[in-house]
Amino acid sequence: MCGIVGYIGERNAPDVLIKGLKRLEYRGYDSAGIAIINGALVFKKGKGKVQNLHKMIKDSGLSGKIGIGHTRWATHGEPNDVNSHPHLSETGKIAVVHNGIIENYNTLKKQLIKRGRTFQSQTDTEVVAQLLEEILHASKGIDFEQAIQLTLKQIVGTYGLAIINADTPDCIYIARKGSPLLLGIGEGEMFIASDASPIVEYTNKVVYLDDGEMATIRQDSYSVKTIEDVSLTKEVHELAISLGEIEKAGYPHFMLKEIFEQPRSIADCMRGRISTQTHSIQLGGIEDVIDDLINARRVVIAACGTSWHSALLGEYLFEYLAKTPVEVEYASEFRYRDPLIGPGDVLLVISQSGETADTIAAMREAKKREALVLGICNVVGSTISRETDAGVFTHAGPEIGVASTKAFTAQVVVLIMMALATGKRKGVLSQQQMKGYIEELSKIPAKVEYILEHTDAAIRQMAGLFTYAPNFLYLGRSYNFPVALEGALKLKEISYIHAEGYPAAEMKHGPIALIDAMMPVVVIAATDHTNDKMISNIEEVKARKGRIISIMNDENSDVKALSEFHISIPATKDCFSPLLTVIPLQLLSYYIAVNRGCNVDQPRNLAKSVTVE
Ligand code: G6P
Repeated sequence: MCGIVGYIGERNAPDVLIKGLKRLEYRGYDSAGIAIINGALVFKKGKGKVQNLHKMIKDSGLSGKIGIGHTRWATHGEPNDVNSHPHLSETGKIAVVHNGIIENYNTLKKQLIKRGRTFQSQTDTEVVAQLLEEILHASKGIDFEQAIQLTLKQIVGTYGLAIINADTPDCIYIARKGSPLLLGIGEGEMFIASDASPIVEYTNKVVYLDDGEMATIRQDSYSVKTIEDVSLTKEVHELAISLGEIEKAGYPHFMLKEIFEQPRSIADCMRGRISTQTHSIQLGGIEDVIDDLINARRVVIAACGTSWHSALLGEYLFEYLAKTPVEVEYASEFRYRDPLIGPGDVLLVISQSGETADTIAAMREAKKREALVLGICNVVGSTISRETDAGVFTHAGPEIGVASTKAFTAQVVVLIMMALATGKRKGVLSQQQMKGYIEELSKIPAKVEYILEHTDAAIRQMAGLFTYAPNFLYLGRSYNFPVALEGALKLKEISYIHAEGYPAAEMKHGPIALIDAMMPVVVIAATDHTNDKMISNIEEVKARKGRIISIMNDENSDVKALSEFHISIPATKDCFSPLLTVIPLQLLSYYIAVNRGCNVDQPRNLAKSVTVE
């Protein structure tokens, strides 16, 4: 949420910043801006996409060797030109870009106004620039770093901050509490960013800032310390992602690319972890804690959005494969209800980005209460990946499209592997059963490939018929109930069509009232053990003239006969079927959104990484 980028070096800073902001645009796209020091501090900013800013900068001929930039997802103040970042201090000498929320900004702003400062914007961020300048002027003999420290001590809330000051024109200052920031170390140049995507093409050496830390960055050096002024030596990490992974590779949208990457991302997620020779599973990241998981008094999974849907699936999987009872929580609810979690309990958090504010807060709450905290995460180096006690990476590769696709399937694969490993270790799964599961799991990438090849054209055509439907209902049972939720979420997110996911049987307790001849009802009828029940539910929809689109196993003639449209997918074990059934739903929402002219990769009001509560 909000992207931050910064550069010092010999290149033309505006070029690096604009390129970086374009890569970060998936984090927020309400407005964008940059500030550069070239003699004086100069800035350009405005409502709308980075492309608009790019044009403004080209027209103005702005140049320089040091600067910071921002792409915004609005929290305080509507997305207009004035509220765009950077925000400047009254003299115009200090520029600040910010990700996060300054919770006490109102109080600070009132005090600053009383003391004579004039504000330009409605944002919380401007307070930082103004307060910083006031402190700098009022406290004789302090340097800029010290002024930042004093400012941050007065601030309540979360921030990833990048600051430049015309009076110290060779430095960028950054500070972090709750919003990610990293530093990229190049040859005679330095980069800062809120995630690695703007940095990968220049360097693979990065330093992750932790909460409560700040850094001063010069062209050839950097120093990191705590806000309390304790100097730190930080580890330099190597980025594992490549430029190709964050580009569209000929696809019209990142989302479509990511949908089609799934045979590979699922295989990558399993690589080196499942053995089709020994029929065993090895998850190095949780090997040392698997007994704690088995012996836990309570296992809770917490997540947000699509990751919450995989969490819900995790509950089904752990119960069935490992006979381990699991509860699932929205991370935002879990943390605020004085959760009954403590020593001997396990909290598993799931997050693609590893930066979702509510999920981080749930993780920290459970840690504070001395529970064991495990994570399933996609982004290496993210806050969750660094702060959990143990965990498993999904290895799905960077996911840029705001609507999550390949991260979901990879999370489900990790949950399957964790549940199988736990079940085996507990003795509830025999070696013979493991053999069956692992052999089938290893076939999933090829089955996903088959679905992509054989259903894409039909789904694209079908999408044309439903492009202007105002509502959609998604029904599933058992393992495919979470998939119904996910299918509905995908459609809502990117096409703005109202859609609801329901357990198929629950439909008759309310949503059935919505069904008429105009209502598309997507039924996910690919789970064998609930097939007969599902057929009854489909009959109920048909009796009310609902338009039935079914996702079904090949040769399920009963479902086929009841459906107006059917998408056939290969059979698999029931508990693996979400990995297949979700694929046509991703494609359906994608093509409907494209037909409606929606911005698929950057849907309105959403952001990829939600770093505010
Ligand atoms: C946002 C994204 C969703 C994502 C959710 C949780 O809402 O738009 O796609 O599922 O955050 O994100 P996480 O990174 O924690 O999985």
